[in-house]
Amino acid sequence: MIRILPFLLAGLLAASAQAAPPKKAAPKPVAEAAPAPAQAAAPAGEDKGREINGVCAACHGEYGQGGKRGEYPRLAGQRAAYLKDQLKSFRARKRINLPMYPYTQERELPDEDIETISDYLAAIRLPTEWPQFKDSDDALTRLTATEKVMIVPRAEGDIGNGKAIYQKECFSCHGRDGRGRGKFPMLVGQYTSYLKKQADAYLKGERPHDDEGVTGILNRISEKDIQDILAYLTSIQNPEKPEAK
Ligand code: HEC
Ligand code: HEC
Repeated sequence: MIRILPFLLAGLLAASAQAAPPKKAAPKPVAEAAPAPAQAAAPAGEDKGREINGVCAACHGEYGQGGKRGEYPRLAGQRAAYLKDQLKSFRARKRINLPMYPYTQERELPDEDIETISDYLAAIRLPTEWPQFKDSDDALTRLTATEKVMIVPRAEGDIGNGKAIYQKECFSCHGRDGRGRGKFPMLVGQYTSYLKKQADAYLKGERPHDDEGVTGILNRISEKDIQDILAYLTSIQNPEKPEAK
């Protein structure tokens, strides 16, 4: 946590023109020159996105890969429109998330930053296969490449049954391949434990499943069927055609 304080403060200072909070330990002046201006400028929001992500990374990981086996969900590659929706509903306390609430308060995460960080995270690609290394690759290259690999362990369950139900009941919003569409979230590549926790929250009425009034989709499905769907989702993580083949 200590490590991210400077980012947090920098974010606060940037976000609020008025009265910076009287916190101790003034951050070092943010004087890092923009790297390598030689090549074409990075997309405008990218540096800013990386900066905001310094705060999120403490829980969601540097690449948005999530952590603690799903206590902190993966955000990388999630649909931008969905991320924006969720951040706004945390901020408005429509979706209750105590760990994150302080980070989403208006002063720290104004709409503009929600746009930026959501686009930034949505654009991060996490490979679902272990990289092949050349002998000449150094330790850091290897570490960086493997850190990004995100393979959700296979979940227990009847994949065939999960597939049948998913492709009947869920695909219309979450996509045939589980990658979501529009503002409907990607489910594939997300931690099983996290998805399960969300399914429970929907069933208990703690989180509305969708705002089109189509409630009860999950309530019509047995617990076993939900588990089978989760198993199915872990079996289709790798539909992207490997580029080189
Ligand atoms: C102190 C830890 C913590 C920090 C820092 C944090 N989050 Fe979270 N975040 C969580 C937890 C825990 C959840 C899961 C809540 C749940 O189980 O419903 C979550 C959930 C989310 C979700 C919902 C994901 C989904 O699939 O529905 C989004 C989006 C999100 N965080 C974005 C962010 C962004 C952007 C930042 C930085 C500005 C951030 N978080 C900082 C702990 C954190
Ligand atoms: C009518 C559209 C629709 C259908 C059909 C649908 N969903 Fe969803 N689903 C949503 C929306 C919208 C959300 C985001 C809700 C929110 O804003 O909290 C969501 C979120 C979820 C989440 C939480 C994702 C996250 O990252 O937190 C899970 C898990 C989920 N759906 C599972 C399912 C399953 C399983 C099915 C099929 C049995 C299904 N959904 C069918 C619209 C749909």
